[in-house]
Amino acid sequence: MNAKKLTILIIEDNPADTRLIKEALAEGNFGAYNLKYADSLSDGLKKISEEDFYIILLDLSLPDSTGLEIITSISEKNKGSPLIILSGTDNLEIAIKSLSMGAQDYLVKGQFDGNGLIRSIRYAVERKNIEADRKLFEETLIKVAKEWRVTFDAMKEAISLTDLEGRIMRANKTMSIMVNKNFKEILGNTCRDLLLDTEHPQDICPLERAKLSKKREIRIFKTGDKFIECIVDPILDENSNVISMVHILTDITNIKKSEEEIKESLSRIKRTFEQTIKALSLLVEVRDPYTSGHQKRVLETAVAIAKDLGLTGKAIEAIRLASLIHDIGKISIPASILSKPGKLTDIERAMIETHPITGYDIVKEIDFPYPIAKIILQHHERINGSGYPGGLKGDGIMIEAKIIAVSDVIEAISSHRPYREAHTLKESFDEISKNKGILYDPGVVDSCIKLFNKQ
Ligand SMILES: [Fe+2]
Repeated sequence: MNAKKLTILIIEDNPADTRLIKEALAEGNFGAYNLKYADSLSDGLKKISEEDFYIILLDLSLPDSTGLEIITSISEKNKGSPLIILSGTDNLEIAIKSLSMGAQDYLVKGQFDGNGLIRSIRYAVERKNIEADRKLFEETLIKVAKEWRVTFDAMKEAISLTDLEGRIMRANKTMSIMVNKNFKEILGNTCRDLLLDTEHPQDICPLERAKLSKKREIRIFKTGDKFIECIVDPILDENSNVISMVHILTDITNIKKSEEEIKESLSRIKRTFEQTIKALSLLVEVRDPYTSGHQKRVLETAVAIAKDLGLTGKAIEAIRLASLIHDIGKISIPASILSKPGKLTDIERAMIETHPITGYDIVKEIDFPYPIAKIILQHHERINGSGYPGGLKGDGIMIEAKIIAVSDVIEAISSHRPYREAHTLKESFDEISKNKGILYDPGVVDSCIKLFNKQ
């Protein structure tokens, strides 16, 4: 395999010196190379501008220029080839000056042999390579640092790098704007120093927690009229020790305000909704004074049973609302029938038995978050299919409706009616116990009796 020939440029006007250099190169074990010659500075500059050389050997005394100026002229054109000065003058000051101007070595003619020259060339090339690598590394480092700086400064969050005590070592532009201080004023301070007054507790920053958990920690705090979200990410070394922290501060005042407005608006809607349900509930009861408070008492019993049976919050809420308006369908029944003191005729009874369907029709279009209309429709169904209006059986009836059914019966039997006196609680329990598993869900009955016995 042929090694690539290296090209060496000798800038020397004295043919005898050129010959000596040529001989020295031949004497040293240097491998294959090409030699190019220039006998003046202008010729040398021309050649340097035409190609890159492995090394340039330069005499400091040329016909068109002499002294250190030659190095300056060469350096302006040179694209990175190492430069060795071959001088006839053994002068330390000039040698040092030459090196400081970019030459890699300074050799005195007649004081080096072939090996000395080759060694000097090799060192010069090596030094030049190291210097080029270092320069590239520095340039890359500066470029990367600049990229990071631009990136950090472009971020809308205030970002800072802190030590373990929270003292800021680096910060981005948003941080500077947020705390209204320049970088010099920020460095060495903690977020607490910059953002908070002494009223805030020491642990306002999640830094201490992040030091222990070694995980991201978040805290939202208020300073003045602003809400700030503070995220702390610990930076770990290879042994998982926390060595520093990244703090990310975000002004979430607007988000927080919107959240609070939504919350307030939701709670207002909820209040209006509940008031509407209560108004509907009252609407039934004003027409039938004997059942006044009936639906509210059914609600209390039904909710207690639902909780005892382990129903979820959503089902309990459904039972609460459905209980309050389960008899809403009665508004279509004449008050004279509702409060009739005597026994009802078959027609009157049939009319009363329409109230679950009427109730269902009234509320079915309302977009409740729970199946209220269906519960109302089923509250007179019985598990053996003897109920109305659908004659549904067992699992065909919703548990919410089964609970309201038992609560309704207990409440109705133990209340005063125009056609009879109130029965005792025991009598109402006898009714549901007798029909447990026939008309009423056995689990619901057991729970109901257990709850009343506890009272
Ligand atoms: Fe009813």
